[in-house]
Amino acid sequence: MTTPHKIKPRKVAFDWSKTDPQWIEGEAFVSHLANSTHILLPIVEAWFCQVFKDALPQVTDDKLRDDVIAFMRQEAIHGGAHRPVADVFKEKGMDIGAGIARTQRLIDFALGNPARVFGLLPTRRLGLDKWWLGTRVGVIAAGEHFTCILGRFILENRELDKLPHDPAMMDLLRWHGAEEVEHRAVAFDLYKHLTGAPLTNRLLVMGFIVPMLTWYWIRSTQYLMRQDPSIAKTPGFFREWRRAAKRNLIPTAADLLGGSWRFLMPGYDPEKEADTAIALDYLAKSPATKRKVGAAG
Ligand SMILES: [Fe+2]
Ligand SMILES: [Fe+2]
Repeated sequence: MTTPHKIKPRKVAFDWSKTDPQWIEGEAFVSHLANSTHILLPIVEAWFCQVFKDALPQVTDDKLRDDVIAFMRQEAIHGGAHRPVADVFKEKGMDIGAGIARTQRLIDFALGNPARVFGLLPTRRLGLDKWWLGTRVGVIAAGEHFTCILGRFILENRELDKLPHDPAMMDLLRWHGAEEVEHRAVAFDLYKHLTGAPLTNRLLVMGFIVPMLTWYWIRSTQYLMRQDPSIAKTPGFFREWRRAAKRNLIPTAADLLGGSWRFLMPGYDPEKEADTAIALDYLAKSPATKRKVGAAG
């Protein structure tokens, strides 16, 4: 099944003039847990676009092709919106350039083109090119399952609104989360179209994504806290996670890990994972989309 409505890429503009790395007052951990998206997403979303571009010639369904193109446009805008935050932080005395370069090398090493990953193996003759393309689309589908869960969380959460926070950063995360909800089915639709999304491959991609994302999220949050000159001692990750999840400022580990099982079920349908109407409602009032429309007009 393809996305029932037409996915719309939206241009955005953010006012970063008042944004600090600790953008939620008194919540260094939650701020930097969210800030890890500014390192990872510009890199992986550019990679999503590259993989989907490679897959596009094999798409034989017109609606799916339109969805895939709209998905690529949205993801390119998302990466472009997160990227300038590194410069905003640098102006505030927090340099994350080395972390970005390290992440880029990691993605190139683990998920790059077949020649890079499989070395001298005759990948085309062994059928690895086709398998690797389908599997990388599967990795994206598994990743998009989590961006949908996180997008839904940030859209529907009201506890964060009660804390003093930077409105530009909250809008970036909510606009991005809303578009993740909007295009939540596209990667899985493409995965099914190319490979049939068999259970063995779903196990493989989820078995890769869950430990990889967990490890990366811990490492990048700790890295960001170490780079933040206002933090004297980096607190323990799991203790902080439990504390913040208890206050409903971040999802619980059970929410995220429970979500991974749903992806493996035979009847998995990304459309059932969230409510598009809530996402479209936010997108209609997002200051960043309005600012851009205002600027264009
Ligand atoms: Fe995105
Ligand atoms: Fe996405």
